[in-house]
Amino acid sequence: MKVLMLNGSARLNGNTYTALEEIGKQLEKEGIEYEIFQLGADPIRDCIGCGQCSEQGCVFTDDKVNEFIAKAKEADGMVFGTPVYYAHPSGRIQSFLDRVFYSSSKAFAFKPGAAVAVARRGGTTASFDVLNKYFGISQMPVAGSTYWNIIHGARKGEACEDAEGLQTMRNLARNMAWMMKCFEAGRQSGVALPDTKRTSRTNFIR
Ligand SMILES: Cc1cc2nc3c(=O)[nH]c(=O)nc-3n(C[C@H](O)[C@H](O)[C@H](O)COP(=O)(O)O)c2cc1C
Repeated sequence: MKVLMLNGSARLNGNTYTALEEIGKQLEKEGIEYEIFQLGADPIRDCIGCGQCSEQGCVFTDDKVNEFIAKAKEADGMVFGTPVYYAHPSGRIQSFLDRVFYSSSKAFAFKPGAAVAVARRGGTTASFDVLNKYFGISQMPVAGSTYWNIIHGARKGEACEDAEGLQTMRNLARNMAWMMKCFEAGRQSGVALPDTKRTSRTNFIR
């Protein structure tokens, strides 16, 4: 089994990466593989609501959205990590995930998800909340920890000094590994996926 993680910072080895690595190291101890997918610093488009999404994902192919979707289809769990910018997730992770989920939410359904927010000081829970919204609308069970999944640091590497933050990451990994193993055991013993319906779609005024 494998967890796909997303680093929503343009800084490849910053504090968000540190948090995700802490989760990854613990996942490996639990017998689960992981990959950290780096958004990097290249431009990322927003969703323009063109409605041209297809089985392959987003119509735009000049960034990493469709590459991530292909990896998500193969993964069994997801962790999305973001630095906090003005008390919200980075603009790049929001633009990226809007296009990923609008085109391909089926790739995520019934797979455990967790969000991680990284800040010098404030705005973590608001950012955590924003990323959790992708899970709720996509039928993804959310893995929790012993605190909200937040960690503090400003300069690169400073998150290594946040002992409680690191502990929260390790506990998140333990909980996510446990959920994934339970789901796999259920699948192997014949528990069917829920027969959810999306037949009703009403606009507020109709
Ligand atoms: C544009 C910008 C806005 C930021 N806004 C906040 C903020 O609202 N609250 C906070 O505590 N830290 C804020 N920070 C600090 C980052 O969240 C912090 O340095 C974090 O560790 C960066 O993660 P990274 O090393 O993975 O890039 C901001 C940083 C930048 C570049």
